[in-house]
Amino acid sequence: MADTLVEWNNSFLIGIKELDHEHKSLVVDINRLHQELARQGEISEIEKCLGDIYARMQAHFALEEHFMKEHDYPFFDEHKREHDQLLDNYTEYMVQILNDAGASPGNPIEHTLKHWVVNHIITSDKKMSLMAQ
Ligand SMILES: [Fe+2]
Ligand SMILES: [Fe+2]
Repeated sequence: MADTLVEWNNSFLIGIKELDHEHKSLVVDINRLHQELARQGEISEIEKCLGDIYARMQAHFALEEHFMKEHDYPFFDEHKREHDQLLDNYTEYMVQILNDAGASPGNPIEHTLKHWVVNHIITSDKKMSLMAQ
């Protein structure tokens, strides 16, 4: 559907309830941003959506990192590197969007959110299900 950037799919589930719940919320926020961009909404609304996603990602990554540390997770370093990279890319694009009032759907931030975030969930996050057993 055109007004949905990321369609939630149960293959995204990693089997850790708290984290699955947060991933779902993240997908909701991403679609909200997509809709705002699609309807060329007020820049203040777009800014709010961008900020919500940033805050959610930051808090979510911190929770995962805490969880991994607690379990002496062997892939902590590479996982954290991906989180840092995601936040860096996101921040960079966020600034670009806010500097360009003509931000539209299909811009790099949407690519990052769609492909990077989903790939991260279905590969790196899914690996964490090892800890749930
Ligand atoms: Fe995650
Ligand atoms: Fe993660």
